[in-house]
Amino acid sequence: MIERLQTILKNAELSIMDAEDLKSIDDIRVKYLGKSGELTEILKGLNQVSADLRPQVGKVSNEIKNKIAELLDQKKEDLDSKVNQSAIPGWDPTLPGRKSVIGKMHPLMIVQKEIADIFKNLGFDVAEGPDLETDYYNFLALNFPPDHPARDAQDTFYVKNKVLRTHTSPIQVREMEKRKPPFKFIAPGRVYRNEAIDATHHHIFHQVEGFLVDEGIQFIHLKGVLDVFIKKFFGAEVKTRFRPSFFPFTEPSAEMDISCVFCKGQGCRICKQSGWVEMMGCGMIDPVVLKNCGINDEKWTGFAFGMGVERIALFKYGIDDIRLFYQNDIRFLNEF
Ligand code: PHE
Repeated sequence: MIERLQTILKNAELSIMDAEDLKSIDDIRVKYLGKSGELTEILKGLNQVSADLRPQVGKVSNEIKNKIAELLDQKKEDLDSKVNQSAIPGWDPTLPGRKSVIGKMHPLMIVQKEIADIFKNLGFDVAEGPDLETDYYNFLALNFPPDHPARDAQDTFYVKNKVLRTHTSPIQVREMEKRKPPFKFIAPGRVYRNEAIDATHHHIFHQVEGFLVDEGIQFIHLKGVLDVFIKKFFGAEVKTRFRPSFFPFTEPSAEMDISCVFCKGQGCRICKQSGWVEMMGCGMIDPVVLKNCGINDEKWTGFAFGMGVERIALFKYGIDDIRLFYQNDIRFLNEF
């Protein structure tokens, strides 16, 4: 009897293995476990089995019944998942994968990085500061007198009792407070001014600040560093010149011009026939600012400069409207 049961299990296993569709699974289930299936028949006839064998035969029949039911369920699951896969319209596991689209750097960030890389190669470290500043860091510590017109709400955005920084120069103060000279830093960042938007002005723009403090630093060092920077960025043929200017935090102060990159200094519409275009503000850090940051201005001197990233990008790419950088037109952005 036990032998007969084992044979039933063997046969059942084999036919389950061979089954290729859900229909044959059902047929096998009926054949072995159905009302008049082979196993059911044996279980039904248990009362004819001798009393001493009955418990063992009963036990084995039940085990075999469960085993077959389990194998059938397993096979049904396997077949189901195969059916589901092939049922997804257009499913083709042999197709090659699709490449995901990788984002690009914004042209302003490309230019900002290029500027930063040149100064990093000259040994400058990179510093950053908060966009939302206090009056102290944006103005007072930089030697703006309390009644200076730059504080006017017509020029500066106020958020509660703070200001959106109008330039990257507050990063000078924050770093100089923390460090002991000598040091040299560049500080890129976004700045904000209450301006009407036109082709050359925007209320949000970007600057890269630079500052260096050491013993015996003079104006000639500033000229040298900026001249190297311009030649690396725009090309060796580009000339620089410095004109007297004014900033509360530098003394003396200067405006640096470069020979027009469009007409090579010949005179054109962009440079208003002068052959020169304004590039950035700069100067020797005012001793008052050094003192405000706890630096001994008898021992240390330094220079600082600040350039507009948008302006430099306009010259680099020959674009005549700053607003293009902020319209997020994918056709424009894909050009870079
Ligand atoms: N902060 C000045 C501006 O925004 C630029 C500048 C920086 C000038 C450092 C001198 C020294 O115009």
